[in-house]
Amino acid sequence: MKTAAILALALSPLALAQTLCEQYGYHSSNGYEFNNNMWGSGSGQGSQCTTVNYSSGSGVSWRVEWNWSGGQNNVKSYPYSGRQLSQKRIVSQIGSLPTSTSWNYQGNNIRANVAYDLFTASDPNHSTSSGDYELMIWLGRLGDVYPIGNQVGTANVAGQQWNLYYGYNGNMQVYSFVAPNQVNSFSGDVKQFFDYLASNRNYPASSQYLITYQFGTEPFTGSNAVFTASSWSASQN
Ligand SMILES: *[C@@H]1O[C@H](CO)[C@@H](O)[C@H](O)[C@H]1NC(C)=O
Ligand SMILES: *[C@@H]1O[C@H](CO)[C@@H](O)[C@H](O)[C@H]1NC(C)=O
Ligand SMILES: *[C@@H]1O[C@H](CO)[C@@H](O)[C@H](O)[C@H]1NC(C)=O
Repeated sequence: MKTAAILALALSPLALAQTLCEQYGYHSSNGYEFNNNMWGSGSGQGSQCTTVNYSSGSGVSWRVEWNWSGGQNNVKSYPYSGRQLSQKRIVSQIGSLPTSTSWNYQGNNIRANVAYDLFTASDPNHSTSSGDYELMIWLGRLGDVYPIGNQVGTANVAGQQWNLYYGYNGNMQVYSFVAPNQVNSFSGDVKQFFDYLASNRNYPASSQYLITYQFGTEPFTGSNAVFTASSWSASQN
């Protein structure tokens, strides 16, 4: 009886819940990965845990709890879920990158973004911790935090208006599409953002490989923060 009960618990979906609190704590399943990435933690003080609530081939659900202080204008971390790309493909040859999410944030004095982050590089074997280009799509901008670089215009992509920023992150050129008003539910095709950049910003889509496809949050400061991605899905066609 007791053995059977333990076995039943181990097989139930709840048993899949994984909590990652250590630096770069990692979990992958069903073509999705999760990383409790705290790359900028040294610029302040705090802690963070990422919990995988649910994962299937058609999408995931997860949350992050954190407290960060100090280093007011420095990003502390980027806990994320990523779509694993078994094949690195040239951006111009990708048909579509459909995605959807529904998320919310709770906490005190939260200063953070909620953003997609995709790296592309001319070398398909480029390290996945950076690229030649970075595309960010900010669905949320909580508090007085700003993307890298300067605003270079506005853009209408995937059925909505965005403020477009451009600048450098080290050697990497960064384009950030920032929603003027928080978008808590988003459904769209990320390929359209690359198409926009190819048409309007000389982005070299025919010589860049998509090497990462991630969604998460970049905290600056705040306390008792809970970021919940009640659903997130992404695919490459
Ligand atoms: C954040 O701080 C609160 C209050 O001290 C604490 O209850 C919570 O566990 C902390 N969360 C993390 C992820 O450190
Ligand atoms: C990438 O790495 C694979 C496996 O090592 C290799 O076969 C391929 O030639 C590399 N591609 C480039 C463009 O360097
Ligand atoms: C956790 O996942 C379950 C199953 O998909 C879902 O019903 C529930 O809303 C999720 N919880 C949160 C807090 O997102």
